[in-house]
Amino acid sequence: MNSQTAALEIQNPTGTGRPRLEVRRVTRTWASMSPGGRTDVVLQDVSLSVGAGEFVAVLGPSGCGKSTLLNVIAGLQVPDSGEVLLDGDPHAQRIGRVAHMHQRDLLLPWRTVIENARLGLELGGIPVAEADRRAREVADRFGLSKVADSYPWKLSGGMRQRVALLRATLPDRSVLLLDEPFGALDAITRADLQKWLAEVLNRSNRAVVLVTHDIEEALILADRVYVMAGPSGRIVDEVSVALPRPRPEGIATSELFVAQKRRLLAALAGQEGMER
Ligand SMILES: Nc1ncnc2c1ncn2[C@@H]1O[C@H](COP(=O)(O)OP(=O)(O)O)[C@@H](O)[C@H]1O
Ligand SMILES: [Mg+2]
Repeated sequence: MNSQTAALEIQNPTGTGRPRLEVRRVTRTWASMSPGGRTDVVLQDVSLSVGAGEFVAVLGPSGCGKSTLLNVIAGLQVPDSGEVLLDGDPHAQRIGRVAHMHQRDLLLPWRTVIENARLGLELGGIPVAEADRRAREVADRFGLSKVADSYPWKLSGGMRQRVALLRATLPDRSVLLLDEPFGALDAITRADLQKWLAEVLNRSNRAVVLVTHDIEEALILADRVYVMAGPSGRIVDEVSVALPRPRPEGIATSELFVAQKRRLLAALAGQEGMER
């Protein structure tokens, strides 16, 4: 058993040795827009695994297939081949077990900020009053107290993104999928919410997959980073993040951080010329 498998076993409360989430050799194609009836490969033989309590980042440039990968994990898109397993089960029901924050916020326009934020809790059977209380408790940290009873159309893109993040993270689902959750935020809000997320998830047993094109974000949040390359999305590298938790202030300028950043940059850059 290698050290990674051992780490996953420790993180797996069922003691079965199986990762919480496993993606096995997933390939996904689209009919090409170009003439000739070709198909475009969007995901090619993608495999990854995430243990309970583990935070994994998928890092890759725009268009390499990251959102498609999350959609396949969530069960919104069916792979051409390969499978997605929850606790070792390829037929596991994903509704109710997987929380998914989409790249587009997908807020319900007829619900207020708090009504949107508490939606996942309500769907999980938490009584409305209790769900409301819990959502309001965290809304302050998200800078959303003042707009709690407003409708989404009144909000800026950054605020809408915060509501979507709150909605995805409030329910304690087995698997949490985050698709570029901080993309629309200013640097200060981003740093604050990254810290909040790390604190919350540190106390939880969720398997988290964060999709990002931001190397620093991946290093600050993740235990492991998978590097993806396009155009036919493949995993080209996997890096264990050797940084202390909680991440100390100023970690981003430490020698260790910079060394890991260099490795990820090289992994991203190394693939660029290869497929063109
Ligand atoms: N519904 C679709 N029909 C055809 N092609 C699609 C569709 N959705 C995504 N794609 C293509 O799949 C590729 C990967 O997209 P996506 O998963 O959104 O990448 P990323 O999230 O890494 O930016 C892109 O080339 C995109 O054009
Ligand atoms: Mg995307």
